[in-house]
Amino acid sequence: MRSNNVFRTLMAGSIATMMAMAAFSLSASDGGDAGGSGAATADAAGKPLDIAKATPKGQLKNPYQDSDKTVVDEGRKLYMRASCNGCHGGSGGGGMCPPLSNETWVYGGDDDTLFRLIAEGSDALQKDGYSRKGRENVVGPMPPHGAIVKTGDDMWKIITFIRANYRGSEAKKYGGEGAAK
Ligand code: HEC
Repeated sequence: MRSNNVFRTLMAGSIATMMAMAAFSLSASDGGDAGGSGAATADAAGKPLDIAKATPKGQLKNPYQDSDKTVVDEGRKLYMRASCNGCHGGSGGGGMCPPLSNETWVYGGDDDTLFRLIAEGSDALQKDGYSRKGRENVVGPMPPHGAIVKTGDDMWKIITFIRANYRGSEAKKYGGEGAAK
């Protein structure tokens, strides 16, 4: 019991340190961006959740093309490393959880929505005002992965891998007319 308490105290301490560091890096980037276009706060080297918070809705855009085999391959490795395959299958075809490769996009199929969903998870996304529009065969919450996927750049590579696995019509690849949010 006693060692358990010590463990908790240690955990609480390190979480506090992490939060302090996050607050520091946020204020540092705010200062550096004074008068700027806002692009600096969305630096892809930053953490996915910081990027999502710093960027207005609808403006997150994947810099990569899924015709770029090198990026797709890196994305596949990152997807496996983050264990996305455990729920969505090795090439995103679904399994216990919805497929990522079909025409149905639960909240929308645009880059911005996918980035936020993966980083924040579905509960936080819904609190941000998004609702389920598309209906997959499996309906359930997706846990946040914004701390598991290390950088915005890694996140875009994973999304590029998802784009490369897409098996529906070209018109609905990015959510079609439902993409506007
Ligand atoms: C514990 C299981 C689980 C893991 C792990 C997981 N997801 Fe999900 N994911 C879900 C569920 C459940 C949904 C459906 C969410 C909803 O309906 O609100 C979902 C939805 C999605 C969607 C939207 C699919 C659509 O049809 O609109 C994408 C994209 C996605 N996940 C990507 C990822 C990526 C990338 C990872 C790894 C970084 C990942 N997921 C890890 C369970 C998971």
